[in-house]
Amino acid sequence: MKKYEKVRREDYEAWYRENRGYRERVRADENRLAYHLMPETGWLNDPNGLCQFQGLYHIYYQYTPFEPTGEIKLWGHYTTRDFIHYKQEEPALFPDQDMDAHGVYSGSAYVEGNTIHYFYTGNVKLFDRDDYDYIMSGRVSNTIHFTSQDGYHFSAKELVLNHKDYPADMSCHIRDPKVFKKGEFYYMVLGARDARSRGTVLVYRSMDLIKWEYFNRITGKEPFGYMWECPDLFCLDDQLCLICCPQGVKAMGTEYQNVHQCTVFCLDYDFGENTFRLKSELPAMVDRGFDFYAPQTFQDEKGRHILIGWMGIPDADYTNPTVQAGWQHALTMPRQLHMREGRLLQQPLEEMEEIRRDRRDYDFAKLEKGVETGLVFEACISLQACRDMRLTLRDDVTLSYENGLLTLDMGTCGSGRTRRSVSLEQLTGLRVFSDTTSLEIFVNDGREVFTTRVYGTHPGMRIEGNCSGSGTVYELNGFIYE
Ligand code: FRU
Repeated sequence: MKKYEKVRREDYEAWYRENRGYRERVRADENRLAYHLMPETGWLNDPNGLCQFQGLYHIYYQYTPFEPTGEIKLWGHYTTRDFIHYKQEEPALFPDQDMDAHGVYSGSAYVEGNTIHYFYTGNVKLFDRDDYDYIMSGRVSNTIHFTSQDGYHFSAKELVLNHKDYPADMSCHIRDPKVFKKGEFYYMVLGARDARSRGTVLVYRSMDLIKWEYFNRITGKEPFGYMWECPDLFCLDDQLCLICCPQGVKAMGTEYQNVHQCTVFCLDYDFGENTFRLKSELPAMVDRGFDFYAPQTFQDEKGRHILIGWMGIPDADYTNPTVQAGWQHALTMPRQLHMREGRLLQQPLEEMEEIRRDRRDYDFAKLEKGVETGLVFEACISLQACRDMRLTLRDDVTLSYENGLLTLDMGTCGSGRTRRSVSLEQLTGLRVFSDTTSLEIFVNDGREVFTTRVYGTHPGMRIEGNCSGSGTVYELNGFIYE
């Protein structure tokens, strides 16, 4: 498959028939994940089009089956009814039209009645001149709509917005539509870089999901990075929030340490007057780890706000040894969101309790002696009067709390990942999800989360420190694929 050539469904099917050996190679990799969605072969990035439709959850994602560095973007597709049993479906979307020839980029789903409406970005790079900088010139970002009555069969793609519809002071970087409804109107947010290289979110409004008019742009008073990717505007526990991924932000102490950020603003928006107010000038970080980006939320039929993120990040200087086995990246566990006192809370979806087995309970003295586990386990630890502590997880990965700072140190297992910290007034609880090559650590009931890939092979866990507490450890089963 060539990078700047269209890929049709037939091209993919022919390639799939010829690449059984590639699939077997990835299937045999000892680093593959047990309970995280990963690509069958090749590369995965952002979750797309998340929705629950007639009971079934659809999880689409940015997908390059052909190789592990992510050159040509399709939409892959998983389905599940319970977040434990999954089916890998045929890819849903291909870059097969002039308007999306160089990648069917990220987008979302909006369910109304018996129809799923999808919106995504058709990426087109121009090659007719040699003086394009691909920021202010040489790139076309088309906002495209299509529908489905079942999540598998799709209507023709239809262009709803392109550069003549975007404000004149924008660069060519506009993408990742997400739609929500408020009152009688639909609103679409799009991530953008303006002509002065300031990150911003464009807001469009529609009565019918087809004709969209420019409504407003959301950004801070001061510039915060040059591009805001993957915006998601939604109301959570009566608080409007904007999650987006700013690029080009400088680190400030423990904050914004990754190459690109994933952040959340709380805001007030008067849609009648079309005025908004960000509740803070600087946004909070959604996750503190090395591998978290481009999450998407949706509300399921139970009314839960569920977030799934990309357990990876673009342009990082650390690596994933899985590339040698022909694959890279995964999605995070699904997390249920809440807003408490202006803070985002993330907790693993309760369905994740279904993969638990072999429960063992420990008091602190036993935790200090060390606990035997496999690599695939969950540990729930509650701590009282914790002045300082040090949790060692496989090999020499440590999470330590000292002088009000909680620090994840990847030791020799990070493949280039080093240290990340957060200030915490107190440490009361940790919920650690360890998979073969990933960690998701939920701190203080999900007030902070560290998501990271990890490449150590010596299982086991130990806590020491000035505190008391107790812990429960479960071995975990893997997801089941139909
Ligand atoms: C975020 C992102 C999106 C884009 C997609 C392309 O990771 O850069 O902005 O739509 O990935 O794969």
